[in-house]
Formats: sequence, structure tokens, C-alpha cells
Amino acid sequence: MKIVEQIKEPINTEMKLFEEKFRNSMNSQVALLNRITHYLVNRKGKQMRPMFVFLTAKMISNGTVNERTYRGAAVIELIHTATLVHDDVVDDSNKRRGFFSINALWKNKIAVLVGDFLLSKGLLLSIDNNDFDLLKIISVAVREMSEGELLQIEKARRLDITEDVYYEIIRQKTATLIAACCSLGACAVQPDDKDVVERMRKFGELIGMAFQIKDDLFDYTDGPIGKPTGIDIKEQKMTLPLIYALNNCTGKEKAWVINAVKNHNKDKKRVKEVIEFVKEKGGLQYAEDKMMAFQKEALLLLQDFPESTYKDALILMVNYVIERKK
Ligand code: IPE
Ligand code: IPE
Ligand code: MG
Ligand code: MG
Repeated sequence: MKIVEQIKEPINTEMKLFEEKFRNSMNSQVALLNRITHYLVNRKGKQMRPMFVFLTAKMISNGTVNERTYRGAAVIELIHTATLVHDDVVDDSNKRRGFFSINALWKNKIAVLVGDFLLSKGLLLSIDNNDFDLLKIISVAVREMSEGELLQIEKARRLDITEDVYYEIIRQKTATLIAACCSLGACAVQPDDKDVVERMRKFGELIGMAFQIKDDLFDYTDGPIGKPTGIDIKEQKMTLPLIYALNNCTGKEKAWVINAVKNHNKDKKRVKEVIEFVKEKGGLQYAEDKMMAFQKEALLLLQDFPESTYKDALILMVNYVIERKK
């Protein structure tokens, strides 16, 4: 059995029901919107975030989930989808999940509005059902994601990012939503157990860090991962492999790289040379080591939960985050 199937096995029923709810949650009276949301749901992603929600909930409650869990999973996937639609505008990217991105097909104006629509649908799904504790978890994540993206832009402009700032960016833009998946999964079934909710939040945050380092490593490969690679340098986005290489080279090399990223970032040949430079300096290896350190720290937080098939699947999921091929 493939690893993803193995992970999904204990949550198959939940994932099926989730998909139906997720699909219905996007309904609108506007035909254009329905066309676009159809396009979106028919090109689904890995759905790792709802998987984190259900696995956490079931691990903590010994296998029982409730309506709050389903709604929480749907809200998070709606918000995730909204941020991807916006992210492709921000990053000027024309591919997502192996197909054209919304901005590539319908232009930026429409992509911005569709993202807002999905975000509002998510928030309303919580509000209409009085899931205010879950809404709070989600809203913190939404705020942090916007801050993370803006911090990233600020740093891309100045090209002066340090390793610590990189971690802060990825914590905000990516890890915070995966943290929300896990704390929400716990909170949906055991709202009064603050310790467990916090422990699962931290777990999600750590694995979210590993998740984004993996995503940044993909950018240094040739794919095929369903979205463009090599676009981070084009967007002057300095990620961990490049940061490491810059911290471990001569002043002359550094000046050459900075110049390439600043002034020749649309030149394919120059970008390739920078990628080669990062590889030679061991930047990929360094990032991989850091990713594994976050993964290990995340696993430690699961130790004290009693053994169960859900816990086993969650551990598999942690490994999948760093071993996945897309
Ligand atoms: C992509 O997330 C955005 C990042 C935070 C790197 P996923 O890789 O989970 O995207 P899909 O939903 O599977 O397409
Ligand atoms: C993804 O950022 C994080 C979001 C908050 C959307 P990236 O720009 O690094 O992700 P991909 O590689 O386009 O999915
Ligand atoms: Mg981006
Ligand atoms: Mg992007």
C-alpha cells in the first residue's frame, strides 16, 4: 500500500464526508464564481491539512469526531485554497497542482476576488455554527500568514535575510496554518483540555516548518511537482539553501550572487548558475538537515499520547512531509 493510502486508511470515512462538505461550502449565486470554484475543487491538492485535523482529533478522542471537526477541516482547506489563489498572484506563478493557476486563466483581478470569496466562506462557516473557539484559532493563522508573506516581500527587497528571519517567515506564512490544523483538531473534540490543544499546536508548527523547508527545496529541483520550480530566485526570494550558501562563501562570491539575484534574476542562465553555486556550497544538504531536526522535534511531542492506529498514521504523516515527491 502506498504511504498516503496507509495514512488515510484510519480516516477514509471522514475524508470522504469532508470532500462533500468542502465542495458544498463554496456555493454561490454567481455563475462565474461557480465555474471557477468547480475548476478548483476538481484539481484538489494533497489535502494534508484536513488529514492533520482528522488524525489529531481521532488520536485525542480515541476515534470519535464531531460536526465541529468536519467544519474545522473545511474552513482550513477553504482558507488554504484562498491563500494559494492569492499566492500565485503575489508570486506571478502560472501553474498550480499541475494545471494553470487561477490568475493564469482568469487574470489577477478575478483571482484576488475569488481568494477573498473563499476566505469569507470559510470564516462564515465557523460563525454560522458558533464555532468561535475554532474561529479564533483560524483567524490568528490568517493574520500571521499575511504578515509572513509581507515580511518575505520586505526581505526580498533588501536581500538581507538572515537564517532567523527565514524561520520567522516560514513560521508565519506556512507553519501557523498547520499548527492551526492540529490545535483545531484537538480543540474540536476536547475544547477544555488546553494543554493538549497547545501541545498539538506546537507539534503542527514544528512539522509546518519542515513542510516549508521541503517546499523550498523543491524549488531547487527540476520537478515535476505540479508547479514551477526555480521561481524563488526569480522573485528574489531567498530561502534556506541560498542563505546558508551566502553565509559560507567569500566576499567576492557573495557580491556575485547578490548581483545576480538583484539585477539578473530573470536571466535563466544566471539563475541556473546561482542554483549550482548553492548546491556546491552544500546549501541543500544543510536545509535537509534542518528540516529533519524540525521533524524530530515534532515527533517528540507525540511520544506521550497512548498508542493507537491514529497516532501511527500521524507519525507516518510526519515522515511523509519530508519524503513526499510533490
Ligand atoms: C502549498 O501547500 C503551499 C505551501 C505552504 C508550501 P501544499 O503543498 O499543501 O498544497 P496542495 O494543497 O497540496 O496543492
Ligand atoms: C506558500 O508560499 C505559503 C502560502 C502562505 C501560500 P510559497 O509561495 O512558497 O508556496 P508555493 O511554492 O507557491 O506553493
Ligand atoms: Mg509565495
Ligand atoms: Mg508561491
